[in-house]
Amino acid sequence: MDNNAGSQDCLRTQDCTLSAPPHTHNLGLLRQGLMRTAQRRGTATAMATTVEDEVEAPEPGDGPRLGFVGAGMMATAMVNGIVASKVTEPDNVFVSAPHRSSLDRFAKLGVRTSDINLEVASGSDVVVVAVKPDVVPAVLREIAPHLRKDALVVSIAAGIPLAVLEQLAPGKRVVRVMPNTPCLVSEGATGFSMGSLATDEDRDTVHALMGAVGLAVEVKEALLDGLTGVSGSGPAYIYVLIEALADGGVRMGLPRAMAIRLAAQTVKGAAEMVLETGEHPAVLKDNVCSPGGLTIAAIESLEKNGFRSAAMQAVIAVASKSIEMRNAEEEKRTK
Ligand SMILES: NC(=O)c1ccc[n+]([C@@H]2O[C@H](COP(=O)([O-])OP(=O)(O)OC[C@H]3O[C@@H](n4cnc5c(N)ncnc54)[C@H](OP(=O)(O)O)[C@@H]3O)[C@@H](O)[C@H]2O)c1
Repeated sequence: MDNNAGSQDCLRTQDCTLSAPPHTHNLGLLRQGLMRTAQRRGTATAMATTVEDEVEAPEPGDGPRLGFVGAGMMATAMVNGIVASKVTEPDNVFVSAPHRSSLDRFAKLGVRTSDINLEVASGSDVVVVAVKPDVVPAVLREIAPHLRKDALVVSIAAGIPLAVLEQLAPGKRVVRVMPNTPCLVSEGATGFSMGSLATDEDRDTVHALMGAVGLAVEVKEALLDGLTGVSGSGPAYIYVLIEALADGGVRMGLPRAMAIRLAAQTVKGAAEMVLETGEHPAVLKDNVCSPGGLTIAAIESLEKNGFRSAAMQAVIAVASKSIEMRNAEEEKRTK
């Protein structure tokens, strides 16, 4: 048995929980999951705390309400993907950030915006915390008392463990999610881990929500560091690869724009081959390397220049940094 076989099995049997491609059953699932959340809201609203009563959120349309605290790169990708997938009405999505300039691009989508986090916190069934990791503690401390009783908290922050999130939002159901920016074009790759109070229904909700904008995989929390290295930060490595391939093309005389399009389509096509055939990448690589041919000469050059090792080290560098951040947060928590 070689090393490849295990990976191939994983691709084929889908060892872990994988979502179907977007625009299929996930939309129904998401709607169901989010509608259940919305139905529960009836009772949740009745039990609202006095603090919630103090913060008056504008009334959205009927249906489940998704809140985003933070309006940066990742919130933009997720909200655009969610709106494009039609998983909920745009006016059921509510985004907050301190600067109006960051919120303008959301308003154009028909999404509601506010520079007051508490409006989002008190007006949402699912609250996505989409700020930088170092801002998460302050934001969660600010919003936690204002969350609806039945609200689900979803953190997308790298390196902030579930135990810390649960301590910052006591008594709340929490899910830790690691998405990536291709959610913007419904081709995201997301891992998520369930908090200690999160329910099967929450799993369905998050799986469907993230499945609507790409692939969603549930993993044990300990695996989120490695997953961040592969898919969370992964798009950046692929952009470098596309740019480098295009540079090679330009060096050989291709016009820049054409070289970039060819390189990007080649990455997309190769990725589709892996996902659709279920073949191990090594098999697909072997298939295109004829003896004494052009492509094997390129592979030799990549190996000589440490391409494979560089890619592995990139993943390990991100995972190590994520572990470092996680340990520092854990240490603060236990002090
Ligand atoms: N970018 C990625 O590829 C990626 C991938 C996976 C996970 N993540 C995670 O996603 C999270 C967000 O990353 P990002 O790349 O989207 O960061 P970003 O582009 O820097 O956006 C951060 C956002 O947080 C807002 N913010 C800052 N302080 C705030 C506060 N007190 N209350 C409410 N909002 C506040 C900022 O508002 P202003 O715009 O008004 O300043 C900004 O909109 C991070 O925790 C990161 O680990 C990112």
